[in-house]
Amino acid sequence: MTSGTPTNGSHQRRALHLVFLGPPGAGKGTQAARLAQSAGIPHLSTGDMLRHALALATPTGLEAKQYMDRGELVPFPIILRLVRDKLQDPASARGWVLDGFPRNLEQARAFAEMLGELRREITRVLYFKVSDESVIRRLAGRRICRRCQSPYHLEFSPPKSEGICDRCGGELYQRSDDVEAAIRTRLRVYADETDPLVDFYRRAGVLAAIDGEQEIEGVKRAVDAAVAGASPRAG
Ligand code: AP5
Repeated sequence: MTSGTPTNGSHQRRALHLVFLGPPGAGKGTQAARLAQSAGIPHLSTGDMLRHALALATPTGLEAKQYMDRGELVPFPIILRLVRDKLQDPASARGWVLDGFPRNLEQARAFAEMLGELRREITRVLYFKVSDESVIRRLAGRRICRRCQSPYHLEFSPPKSEGICDRCGGELYQRSDDVEAAIRTRLRVYADETDPLVDFYRRAGVLAAIDGEQEIEGVKRAVDAAVAGASPRAG
């Protein structure tokens, strides 16, 4: 992997291959959706892919549900197949924002191999640093649009009309893993499995740490600066 840092502020000119890393509820999905829209590239969220498969009641979705509801990682072969299909899709030719993958060292190593085969390199890994207290507060108040997956928060980012998505008019719901027991498991799984990737990508020279404790617009400015090519900061 090399840093392949963009040389100007435009997201439009060269392929951006971005990975968003951080604990559950850190704001990865919120920021990934915004950046993907402004850069005109797909937002590839493995969590959204799994929830979509579940909504369609596919065998993949039904198998994944038991793991997701408990807050555990879904078996790797399922994830690998989903990610590979998306990266090979022509819609990903100009870049992507990966959100929720890779999630442990096994996935990161397989991902590096996959990128080698596809002749792609990671542009930057954005690491969202947020405390456990903020995570719990954010996840407890999160609501998601059933139709377009847009995230809201009852306190920090409320919809204009209660229970209705501003963007598409879809119904807002609470995720089944945004309950106390599953949140605790997700935080433990993050610490054990995913947090080691911070060092992995720091050593690869592609990590940029983002202060995820700021309000949403402040985080967005930090994301834009990191993507526009500010030097990666030590996490
Ligand atoms: P996934 O859907 O990826 O969930 P996650 O990683 O736990 O992350 P979240 O979606 O909960 O949080 P986020 O960081 O995107 O926060 P958001 O922007 O929504 O994975 C779910 C499950 O799927 C996993 O547990 C696992 O079972 C399975 N899975 C997925 N990928 C896998 C993989 N690779 N391998 C194996 N299994 C996998 O923000 C949270 C809330 O805070 C929102 O309400 C938002 O409005 C609010 N908010 C956001 N930013 C701010 C801010 N700056 N200030 C205040 N509030 C904010």
